Amino acid sequence: MKIFLDTANIDEIRSGVKMGVISGVTTNPSLVAKEGASSYQELVQNICNITHGDVSVEVIEEKQEAMLNQARQVAGWAPNVVVKIPVTAAGLEATSILSSEGIRVNMTLCFSVNQAILAALAGATYVSPFVGRLDDIGDDGMALIADIAGIFDKYKYHARVLAASIRHPQHVLQAARAGAHLVTLPYKVLVQMTKHPLTDSGIERFLSDWRSSGSVFS
Ligand code: E4P
Repeated sequence: MKIFLDTANIDEIRSGVKMGVISGVTTNPSLVAKEGASSYQELVQNICNITHGDVSVEVIEEKQEAMLNQARQVAGWAPNVVVKIPVTAAGLEATSILSSEGIRVNMTLCFSVNQAILAALAGATYVSPFVGRLDDIGDDGMALIADIAGIFDKYKYHARVLAASIRHPQHVLQAARAGAHLVTLPYKVLVQMTKHPLTDSGIERFLSDWRSSGSVFS
């Protein structure tokens, strides 16, 4: 399972990429708005210069024609841009056309197996089921990931399951067990994943034993 960072923050992307474990980035209009950038294009191009991995960039239009125009522009901003489009009827139409033009699409705001099947059939490269937002309303987000992953595998769909709306490290573990191909996570969750109290106390003990030994390094 690969890891994407779910952020539009340049510092977070830089440090995630430095760790060598990040295969790409996903953004959305809320994350972009948080950065307060005056130009969407400039921000996306900065992100695309930091990572060579796929960078999902969402359209901010709802009608099929307008979505298509915007998607084609966004796809021209950098070679590693993947256009992000919501799973609606208009979004599916736009995705079918874009995929036939060779433009890669991440179908987002997916909350059901049926939406995921339609996204795969429309030619999406990634389908993003939102785990946390389903959990928030008392549903089982991870059961959806497992269902979709099983069905995509059974019918040999090319679309990849990208578990999104991840809130904590347990979600990452569960997504891996459920068969997600990728998971996109906030920077905070990436940092949480590196931590274990036994790692910290282990380092402390090794170093204090070493210091008291009086040995030299070489
Ligand atoms: C996915 O691509 C979305 O950007 C994201 O995961 C949404 O997460 P949220 O529910 O925490 O806003």
